[in-house]
Amino acid sequence: MTTTIFGHRGIPVKFVENSKTGFEYLAQNGEAVEFDVHLTKDDVPVIMHDEKLDRTTNSTGYIKNFNIRDLKNVHLINDINRQQHPVSQNEGIPTLEEVFEIFNHTDIFLNIELKTDYLSYPGIEKIVLKLLEKYDLNSQVVLSSFNIFTLQRLYQLDHTQNLAFLSSNKISKPHQFMTDNHLKALHLDRKAVSEAPILQRIWTVNSENDMNMAFEQQLGGLFTDDFEKAKQLR
Ligand code: G3P
Ligand code: CA
Repeated sequence: MTTTIFGHRGIPVKFVENSKTGFEYLAQNGEAVEFDVHLTKDDVPVIMHDEKLDRTTNSTGYIKNFNIRDLKNVHLINDINRQQHPVSQNEGIPTLEEVFEIFNHTDIFLNIELKTDYLSYPGIEKIVLKLLEKYDLNSQVVLSSFNIFTLQRLYQLDHTQNLAFLSSNKISKPHQFMTDNHLKALHLDRKAVSEAPILQRIWTVNSENDMNMAFEQQLGGLFTDDFEKAKQLR
């Protein structure tokens, strides 16, 4: 099996994570992308890793407390803990629709992570599914979450969805777990890889050693901050 290489939050070694600039670059040069979805106060899905604006924008507070109109005045900045990259003064937080506009009519495979591990965002499943249908992107998407109840709700809403459970820990009897929860794959921390013959994708893989391990074991996919390095190695 060829290991699919997912640009984790775009390509954060080159452009600010979860930014339109990074996604546009990936749309031209990559094969698969991973990004994280939250809901604003007025139920607009937006792309950011954290629940709060503090780390990656010029503002503070929870996304869920902002209406989209107010969030549009917020700008992305460099994460102080990561490598520094130029970011346009006016680059805002992307909405899910804006990201779909970028990948619409490309063959890039999308991993949409519903960030419901700390906050529940009631209704997020229905909102994301509706937009997937609007943009006709269902055939090139895997929906993932650390929250099994989110995945169960997605399955109840649409039995045909491609679903993956995110886990930092090894899952005992992974095949049974996948069958019970209608999952197509597991997205695992690289230390939680299973011996079982199941579809698994691992994160976050940035060293050559870890990348080579994923290729040698023919894992289904890897998530990396530098998809260009991984493509070269593969
Ligand atoms: O989907 C893989 C990875 O993105 C999960 O961890 O914290 O980067 O969202 P995190
Ligand atoms: Ca993620």
